[in-house]
Amino acid sequence: MDKIRNPFSPGAGSPPPELAGRESILEQARVLFGRVLAKRPEKSMLLTGLRGVGKTVLLNEIERTAQAAGFRTILVEAHEGKPLSVLLVPHLRRLLFELDRLKGAGDKVRQGLGVLRSFIGSIKVKVGDLDIGLDIEPEPGSADSGDLEVDLPNLFVAVAEAAQERHAAVAILIDEIQYFSSYELSALIMAMHKMQQRQLPLVLVGAGLPILPGLAGESQSYAERLFSFPTVGALPQADAEKALRDPVRAEGAEFDPAALQAIFKLTQGYPYFLQEWGYQAWNHAATSPIGAAVISETSELVSQRLDENFFRVRFDRLTPREKTYLRAMAELGAGPYRTNDVAVKLSVKINSLAPVRDKLIKKGMVYSPAHGEMAFTVPLFDTFMRRVMPKFEP
Ligand SMILES: Nc1ncnc2c1ncn2[C@@H]1O[C@H](COP(=O)(O)OP(=O)(O)OP(=O)(O)O)[C@@H](O)[C@H]1O
Ligand SMILES: [Mg+2]
Repeated sequence: MDKIRNPFSPGAGSPPPELAGRESILEQARVLFGRVLAKRPEKSMLLTGLRGVGKTVLLNEIERTAQAAGFRTILVEAHEGKPLSVLLVPHLRRLLFELDRLKGAGDKVRQGLGVLRSFIGSIKVKVGDLDIGLDIEPEPGSADSGDLEVDLPNLFVAVAEAAQERHAAVAILIDEIQYFSSYELSALIMAMHKMQQRQLPLVLVGAGLPILPGLAGESQSYAERLFSFPTVGALPQADAEKALRDPVRAEGAEFDPAALQAIFKLTQGYPYFLQEWGYQAWNHAATSPIGAAVISETSELVSQRLDENFFRVRFDRLTPREKTYLRAMAELGAGPYRTNDVAVKLSVKINSLAPVRDKLIKKGMVYSPAHGEMAFTVPLFDTFMRRVMPKFEP
């Protein structure tokens, strides 16, 4: 059918034509924003889920929800090796200048800028030149202890008080939160703790791979009290079919129910796979309705495309040792895997694998769903590993 009118959008962060099955999370976000404006306590949100399930598009939608509720927003994406402070500072600076232009009396905005200035002063030593030209006197002793767990909460308080003074509210949205160190996460958690204690109008919505099990002791119990952790996962059949059916219908075409069922079976409802299947099925079909035969005919092509675009890019970033580790996991089935079983598969001592496992976690390839366990962060990655490395050689 007409390729130009193809409604599907496979790709990292590409908004789907139909954001299916996420109503309850969006509703939760609306309630959160509303309650913060009403000065009622509510948990901030950390969306967690595997690769390609739709965390980024959901976070973007939540940003729009926040803006519609009247919030000023900051949306950032964490990267491997980029400090949280460096990531946030330019945005907080912009925000404070925006607040400065809003009507209202008081000196909290100036103060906020001063606190930001001293915060920058303290991190400059560590991160080199973060010169963002703030021609303002620092507020000594406010956020310049050099200890992020102290400074970040103080900085957030200063920003939130500035916002409050100007009758504004702030939502900070952070994607790929798993890239922060546990120390940075703990500082963020402490900062949100202060927001809640003082009922200040600043909320945090994060998204990323599952992180909770990686947090230690006190920060974990804090995190559980301050945040809700909605899971973003594969779509149930009804939502998966809707995600395919409605966009096609909007273009005046149809899927056969049998075709929808076939796609659901092949994708297990994973959003990225649904988009890729929908996309190829549309292009391949001669006419509407798109039948089950089209699905089996495109099966090979879709697998190839997913291998190239979704799996391969991640695989290519791995060292031979890391590949062997993942291949050993795949040898054990779909997971989750006990770290000990992987060691046994590789005929080595479990301790000797700790460095390679840490690397794989840092690269976001695996995560630990529970103590002593590992799982792939990419859905169906075990099947890909067996395809790309047909023979397991420890
Ligand atoms: N609710 C949904 N219904 C249908 N398609 C969706 C849905 N959510 C996301 N998608 C599609 O899934 C794909 C992946 O989305 P997105 O990039 O947001 O995932 P992600 O969880 O952020 O992945 P990653 O962990 O790799 O960053 C996109 O093509 C998007 O259009
Ligand atoms: Mg994403």
